Amino acid sequence: MANKSNTPNEDREQFLYAQDRIRQKKRLNQHFVFFLIGSAFIIILDQVMGVGHEALPQNWYVWAILIWTFFFLIHAFNVFFTNRFMGKKWENEQLDKLKLKQQKRIDELQKQVEKEMPLPEVKTPKPIKNQTLTIIAAASENDALGKDNDLVWHLPNDFKRFKKLTTGHHIIMGRKTFESFPEPLPNRIHVVITRDKNYKKFGAVVVHSLREALELAKKDDQPYIIGGGEIYKQSLEYADKIELTRVHAEVTADTFFPHIDENKWELINEEHHPKDDKHEYAFTYLTYIRKD
Ligand SMILES: NC(=O)c1ccc[n+]([C@@H]2O[C@H](COP(=O)([O-])OP(=O)(O)OC[C@H]3O[C@@H](n4cnc5c(N)ncnc54)[C@H](OP(=O)(O)O)[C@@H]3O)[C@@H](O)[C@H]2O)c1
Repeated sequence: MANKSNTPNEDREQFLYAQDRIRQKKRLNQHFVFFLIGSAFIIILDQVMGVGHEALPQNWYVWAILIWTFFFLIHAFNVFFTNRFMGKKWENEQLDKLKLKQQKRIDELQKQVEKEMPLPEVKTPKPIKNQTLTIIAAASENDALGKDNDLVWHLPNDFKRFKKLTTGHHIIMGRKTFESFPEPLPNRIHVVITRDKNYKKFGAVVVHSLREALELAKKDDQPYIIGGGEIYKQSLEYADKIELTRVHAEVTADTFFPHIDENKWELINEEHHPKDDKHEYAFTYLTYIRKD
């Protein structure tokens, strides 16, 4: 039975988990029936038909049944213990523990924001020493980022790279980008910028300007600006690095990445990935650093 406070995603996870358990138990039942019939058949082969009396050791059928019993017990052990304790449910429990830890940290940061901010109005955020403020984005040839508050492609390897780079760091984003996620991403501090002073969402540290966001992330040596269009545009002049996935397509969109001025940005790395079964477009990882 689904818990009342479950999100649709959690309901779906529980449903899939239950389906999986039913399948595992059905397979174990089938194995048991097969084992009973198989054992009877082995006994008949030996005792009634005299198969293997010359070629095989005496009582070979007892050994055969014992070995099969051993494998059947391993199967049952897996279904009732290993899969139960280390299956999807176990994984979800671990994830919940992580989320709880993350939420604690977020609550602390939100308290800090409420105590210390808003900061006095200054035009530009102060550059922070020993910090590489990085913009990370995926944009098509025509600089498209998204449409109807969603992405316009599915590139699993780009997601993996995004996860690898941003895990453990502050990820700074506009309210609309945050709301485009089904749920907060694990192991990252979500700093969400909005003009709405009453905005509160599970998993988000809410701030009201880019400057506040950067101030909050000042102890992180590698915070990431993760979008969307409005926030990229405002942060481009403060970023030290851009990790851009250039998606080789021209797509229709309503949100765009700002122009990268090659007089100000130096391309230091390129890595190309062709189109394949899992990636509908070819793409290239481009790394830029600020020239001055
Ligand atoms: N391809 C990619 O790499 C990528 C990455 C991220 C997002 N996206 C896509 O980009 C789209 C979303 O981008 P977007 O440009 O529409 O929205 P966004 O930049 O994610 O968020 C815009 C919101 O941020 C807040 N905001 C912006 N500037 C602010 C400021 N100076 N002070 C306070 N609050 C400020 C406002 O929130 P309030 O309205 O609440 O005041 C504003 O409506 C989606 O389609 C998403 O899928 C693509």
